[in-house]
Amino acid sequence: MSSPEKSAFFIPDPAIIRKSRVPDYDRLYAASVADPSAFWENLSKELLFHTPPKKILDWSPRSFEGRWLVGAMGNICENALDRHVHDGFANKAALIWVGDRGEEDIYTYGRLLDQTSRFAHILKELGVGKGDRVTIYLPPTPFQVIAMLACARLGAVHSVVFSGFSAMALKSRLEDFEPKVLVTADCGFRRGKRIPLLETARAARRGIASLTCTVVVPREASPLLLEPGERSLPDLMSEVRFSGPLTPVPVSCDDPLFVLYTSGTTGKPKGVVHVQLGYMLGTYATARYIFDLQDSDVYFCVADPGWITGHSYIVYGPLLNRATVLLCEGTPDYPDAGRHWSLIERHRVSIYYSTPTTIRLQMRLGDSWPAGYDLSSLRILGSVGEPLNPEAWHWIHRVTGGKLPLMDTWWQTETGMIMITPLPSTPLKPGSAGRPFPGVEADVVDHSGHPVRPGETGMVVIRTPWPSMFRTVYGDPERYRKYWTEIPGLYFSGDSARKDDDGSFFLLGRVDDVIKVAGHRLGTAEIESALITHPKIAEAAAIGKPDELRGEIIKVFIVLRPHALSEPPHRDEIKQHVRLELGGIAEPHEIDIVLSLPKTRSGKIMRRVLKAREMGLPEGDLSTMED
Ligand code: WT7
Repeated sequence: MSSPEKSAFFIPDPAIIRKSRVPDYDRLYAASVADPSAFWENLSKELLFHTPPKKILDWSPRSFEGRWLVGAMGNICENALDRHVHDGFANKAALIWVGDRGEEDIYTYGRLLDQTSRFAHILKELGVGKGDRVTIYLPPTPFQVIAMLACARLGAVHSVVFSGFSAMALKSRLEDFEPKVLVTADCGFRRGKRIPLLETARAARRGIASLTCTVVVPREASPLLLEPGERSLPDLMSEVRFSGPLTPVPVSCDDPLFVLYTSGTTGKPKGVVHVQLGYMLGTYATARYIFDLQDSDVYFCVADPGWITGHSYIVYGPLLNRATVLLCEGTPDYPDAGRHWSLIERHRVSIYYSTPTTIRLQMRLGDSWPAGYDLSSLRILGSVGEPLNPEAWHWIHRVTGGKLPLMDTWWQTETGMIMITPLPSTPLKPGSAGRPFPGVEADVVDHSGHPVRPGETGMVVIRTPWPSMFRTVYGDPERYRKYWTEIPGLYFSGDSARKDDDGSFFLLGRVDDVIKVAGHRLGTAEIESALITHPKIAEAAAIGKPDELRGEIIKVFIVLRPHALSEPPHRDEIKQHVRLELGGIAEPHEIDIVLSLPKTRSGKIMRRVLKAREMGLPEGDLSTMED
């Protein structure tokens, strides 16, 4: 193959390969897919179960139901906290928290277990038991992590909603999830600005009949003025009698851990359902092998626990591995462009898991920022969320010393765990996410499921089940089936890619109506639905437009209602409208007011035509377009 990516190659230091947990990827991979049950069973033995599994996997190719660790009983919170405390690590730092305004706090494993156990007690007093649902709408702070772990401890199901979402976005998730309890805070902070979370939560929860209580975690010192149905965390803590630690509730292989809403091709976000035990095995194993977590490491992942990256690689995966995790509120350029570099220096961070948009922003801000800090503690880098372009790859690799393994990890909310990635011991190709994780059978295929040749573009599929696979779409099993039937019998990710001669994946982006803005996943239909609730907008179409910094930006085309033609809405008003409907991450960057939208004869908006026009490319087959 003559593609340019073949030439660039980084071979890891022989010392890294020697010390690696996976010194020979090819051998391990071959063995893992020859006998996946044996591979995963071995790993599962490193975890604690009340009853060990009778069968590793029960896979139904008809219903696409993958039941992992059948017959086992266990608890992910117990594995993430109690296990380490019992092993003598109560005083090891579990969580180092850094707030947007420079606040710092450290939770040892002992303190994190104590706080989690108390929070679980409180939830129990509020009537939350196994299988009950709790929505968590908190900023990236220790209590966000504690609330998640407390739910897990009780066998309850959490649904974390990113604190940047608007009242309408939170409301639609509450309507679908119907939680018993909502946990929120008075406020969060971003770039020094106060985010009024409690006000938003109050607007969102109106009319949600399932809710019996809103727990408010105070962030500010000023006294809380609570409304009926609200309880403050300190009040609850002082009322509830703690008669020793709350025993973790053992759950089975089918018991859900969380529902996380993500964007799809329809206007309504889908609730991706993950179960405790399989998810535990998948996140434990991937965090262990990809980031090579050791007791001496300080691990910093820049995500918010409100997204899947935070669930799997801030909270569960690293804590299952007894890691020290740095959790940071805020943005990489506030209070200044050295934010992350100074945290790396100050806390001797050894593993830095970032995103392409963050790296490109840092690159734009200039070399002098990383050069001004001692980054010698770093030993492994990571990236996730969108393709990491070679220029950004080379930049972060160079400014951190030119030698570090850089794990460009490909995965999704649905997969729960990293699926395609290099390992610290495998060769690196800038722009490539490497090869599948051991035990994962990923491929690039055509529409009928046949593998395409190296260098050809096709669709990214997974052929066989994996432990942390999602189990259904909450309340919508048909939507789950669709993932497996579009390309019959294979899990279709929605992404396209090419593989080179060595089997390394080069991800090319989504092929469905999902766009990725700064790594955030948004559905074009979702943005369009929000736009047409504006009284002056009759029709709308949204596309992702390539952008050097954010990967893609949101461009929208709107058709006005006749009465609005004489007095068209201001662009800022439209942006503000979407911000209120969905949240800041969905705000359109460019708005064109047009007279009509290209549509098929059956009335579907032809977004690909809009995109081609926008980019000055050929418009393709227009035979289905109406006049
Ligand atoms: C989509 C999933 C899973 C963590 C965060 C995103 C894109 C993710 C990569 C990567 C190229 C990537 C894909 C995927 N994506 N990682 N390393 N290279 N693209 O989770 O919000 O569910 O989005 O993110 O398009 O389908 P998500």
